[in-house]
Amino acid sequence: MDGTTPPPAAAPLIVIRDVSRRYLRGVDEIHALEHVSLTIPAGHFVALMGPSGSGKSTLLNLVSGIDRPSGGEVLVAGQRLNDLSEDELARWRARHVGLIFQFFNLIPVLSARDNVGLPLLLTALDKAERLRRAETALRVVGLEGRLDHYPRTLSGGEQQRVAIARAIVTDPDLIVADEPTGDLDARNAEATLDLLRQLKQHFGKTIVMVTHDPRGLRFVDEAYHLDKGVLLTGEEALRAGEAIRLAAGGTGAPR
Ligand SMILES: Nc1ncnc2c1ncn2[C@@H]1O[C@H](COP(=O)(O)OP(=O)(O)OP(=O)(O)O)[C@@H](O)[C@H]1O
Ligand SMILES: [Mg+2]
Repeated sequence: MDGTTPPPAAAPLIVIRDVSRRYLRGVDEIHALEHVSLTIPAGHFVALMGPSGSGKSTLLNLVSGIDRPSGGEVLVAGQRLNDLSEDELARWRARHVGLIFQFFNLIPVLSARDNVGLPLLLTALDKAERLRRAETALRVVGLEGRLDHYPRTLSGGEQQRVAIARAIVTDPDLIVADEPTGDLDARNAEATLDLLRQLKQHFGKTIVMVTHDPRGLRFVDEAYHLDKGVLLTGEEALRAGEAIRLAAGGTGAPR
């Protein structure tokens, strides 16, 4: 390099190009997303925000290959998801995406270790290796002392950490989280956001999180705002971010 070449921008992990998603409800067509374009670099932690019904979960489902767009294209890790069949999408998801939900979605009759090992059942790994990897993932989230605990014997914050361990056990490029702090108290919400940020910092994960939580703004690299299926840009996006910061008491700090 001659010293004048700018450093290369981080390669995008996710490219969403002119994406629309319409649903038919009876005779009505619902425009859940309208011409959304968005590029998310690898290794970024990104928040999707907006009022209820604005299309956040719809967009997350497209990015994670749970759903396909009605128009436009979705590329993740170099793969154009539009082109994949249901089966191919399921296989692609199992290798590339870790999912985290608001209500943890743990299996009550399985221990923390067995819950975390579940996604590995889709791989060719033997049982000993599956358990070893589940234990490693639980260590990453700070739950090495809870391997044999059942979900009902764990606090909400601990259950969400088990769910995060389950999301990372396959070592996915992308973690998507739909309102991961929605069912947690302030302390556990902070701890969860901090843990997600650590997964970005220490393991280079790309994280897309839907959230209503103003605290989230302090942990993410970028926040995007949806309103009625449209991605806000420019002044409108700035105003939406400012409104969330004000609602949180001025700084986005916990109340
Ligand atoms: N499977 C579906 N069939 C029909 N309509 C749907 C479907 N999924 C979502 N919608 C509609 O699409 C719009 C966007 O829904 P979406 O779930 O993406 O909103 P959201 O921003 O995640 O809201 P919330 O904050 O309440 O979770 C809503 O009007 C919703 O009713
Ligand atoms: Mg939603």
